[in-house]
Amino acid sequence: MNAAVVVKRYSADRVDECVSVLADAFVSSPLHLSAFGNGRIDQNRLFFRIGLRHMFIGPALIALVDGAVCGYVHFNPWPYCLPAPVEIPNVAATLLKPLGEAIPQIVEWFARWCHLDPEAPHVHLGPIGVAPGMQGKGIGRALMNHYIEYLKRERTAGYLETDRLENVEFYKKFGFIVKREEMIIGTPTWYMWRPIG
Ligand SMILES: CC(C)(COP(=O)(O)OP(=O)(O)OC[C@H]1O[C@@H](n2cnc3c(N)ncnc32)[C@H](O)[C@@H]1OP(=O)(O)O)[C@@H](O)C(=O)NCCC(=O)NCCS
Repeated sequence: MNAAVVVKRYSADRVDECVSVLADAFVSSPLHLSAFGNGRIDQNRLFFRIGLRHMFIGPALIALVDGAVCGYVHFNPWPYCLPAPVEIPNVAATLLKPLGEAIPQIVEWFARWCHLDPEAPHVHLGPIGVAPGMQGKGIGRALMNHYIEYLKRERTAGYLETDRLENVEFYKKFGFIVKREEMIIGTPTWYMWRPIG
């Protein structure tokens, strides 16, 4: 049964709750397993804390059920959606430094994503995550609906990367199609595009 979900703008006073939701949602994602290792909730928390504080600078929304955060989505308009490839060494040496031994893997992963970022205008989705115990109740759909409304309002395309085949099916429900598939740090990765309209 679908949950009674309220979607609102993210605000910084919710950072701790969002870090928890995202770390729990992504700790078993293939790219996160490759980069951070098995069960590294500590590294995932650190990663998302850095992201929420410094990198997720576009519109962001949270999903609340009974007042508690159980989902988060961020999207960012091109051309500033990802760092330019030349900026990555600097980002690794500063913002990502606390991630220690995971840095080479993260750099390889994000350098590839930055390199492949489409040149056509788009609004880049990610991350989107729902607390594991609340998945399958319509919360991801509620967050995606807001993102799709934004794309329609701005008359622009959508773009995302994902590392799970089941997510490919999830995103197809919202009009995305697979543009490319390849291995990154030992993990299959799909690149998906949603045309304007
Ligand atoms: C992907 C994710 C955000 C989906 O959120 P969710 O709240 O579980 O999804 P919903 O319950 O809103 O499902 C929406 C629709 O997608 C389908 N769906 C959801 N997860 C699916 C899956 N793993 N495989 C196939 N279909 C799926 C549902 O059946 C539903 O279809 P319907 O509305 O036509 O009945 C969530 O599972 C998640 O946080 N996963 C872990 C983190 C992650 O991988 N994030 C995406 C990174 S790219």
